[in-house]
Amino acid sequence: MSTVIVGGGNAGLQVADMLRRRGFEEPITLVCEENHLPYQRPPLSKKFLEGALAEARLTLRPEKFYTDRSIELKLGTAVTHIDRQEKTVLTDTGETLGYTDLVIATGARPRVLPGHEGRNDLFYIRGIDDIHALKAALPGKQKAILVGGGFIGLETAATLTTLGLDVTVVEAMSTIMPGLVAPELAAFFRSEHEGRGVTVLENTSVSNVDAEPSGGFKAMLSDGRVLDADIVVVGIGVLPNSEIAEAAGLACDRGILVDEFARTSDPGIYAVGDCATGVLTRYEGRTRLESVQNAVSQASVAALSIFGEAAPYTDLPWFWSDQYDLKLQMAGLSRGYDQIVQRGDMEDRSFSICYFKEGHLIAIDSVNAIKDHMAAKKLLDASIDVTPDQCADTGTPLKDWLTA
Ligand code: APR
Repeated sequence: MSTVIVGGGNAGLQVADMLRRRGFEEPITLVCEENHLPYQRPPLSKKFLEGALAEARLTLRPEKFYTDRSIELKLGTAVTHIDRQEKTVLTDTGETLGYTDLVIATGARPRVLPGHEGRNDLFYIRGIDDIHALKAALPGKQKAILVGGGFIGLETAATLTTLGLDVTVVEAMSTIMPGLVAPELAAFFRSEHEGRGVTVLENTSVSNVDAEPSGGFKAMLSDGRVLDADIVVVGIGVLPNSEIAEAAGLACDRGILVDEFARTSDPGIYAVGDCATGVLTRYEGRTRLESVQNAVSQASVAALSIFGEAAPYTDLPWFWSDQYDLKLQMAGLSRGYDQIVQRGDMEDRSFSICYFKEGHLIAIDSVNAIKDHMAAKKLLDASIDVTPDQCADTGTPLKDWLTA
């Protein structure tokens, strides 16, 4: 009996941690392509890029954690091949590791700006090394273009603005954070960015980035405009790292397909975190979530399955994004909503947007409203149907509806 975990991000680490917490005594090997102890990614585009957080603070667990728990860490090592018949994996260091249970936690990688494959002068944000490279390039730079107005683009725009750069965000869709938050909430964030001097171009995509002999860039926009920049950061989404699973014949569809027990199409192989497209019992169909909550929840589900105490994925999805002093916290998935209700005043910079579908509360996004967010998680988790009028009533704390 032994478990091999491929990928040392938060999801991979959590599987190892959960197994040991449950009393799993068999060998565990964590194979980690990056040459860093497993670390948290959310601060990368924020405090770490800003220089306000030391690298050591990113580390999720000290080295002693792994030695104390007999978790064998193979840093700087990638798995290149899975042999399902032999139940072994091959690493790029030439090792063959046998497994009883295999967990794929390979995460996702930034989508490359189409037509710009192989370029090393554009910046992407995914790992510690990406931030070191970006930070090293910043001195003396003034103008930055952020391609993509999702969380990565906007968080990076906020940080670079805070660092004194002159920033333009270019978003292909009609609003920033498209499909992530209601357009009304996106408009609030847009005005917050603009208020700090950021230029936000929506309905515009970057079609080409040319490097100038002088060292700068010229970015061609879809509307024909050309923008000059000293630095270009691309945040146009991520692709799941599912290649080794696909090559091994596991069912994949924009991610490694797993059931509500984190099992792939091979009963001895699990997939967790950003690389997995899973069944969330609360929602129809399959969903690939990119979040810390999902990494932790799905890792816990996989660990229980391996431990022989399988329990389905029932956790409520939640997310956050920090931009300037604005803390956006999202509870539930708002997709498919047909009504929104605002709770509180945007001018106060503390409010929530409540999403309804066919009269039922399905999600709440809160801005600088931590109490709303905490209550939202509990209400949605318990499927308590607060009405639109009750949500809009700021005189009654949302948590009161938990017991009403
Ligand atoms: N020009 C401009 N915008 C583009 C282009 C383009 N050529 N191509 C895509 N976009 C836009 C998309 O419309 C989308 O709004 O880029 C945005 C990318 O946003 P996301 O898909 O949310 O991805 P990203 O912001 O890169 O975040 C990736 O990292 O922090 C996590 O939660 C985050 O899991 C997410 C991941």
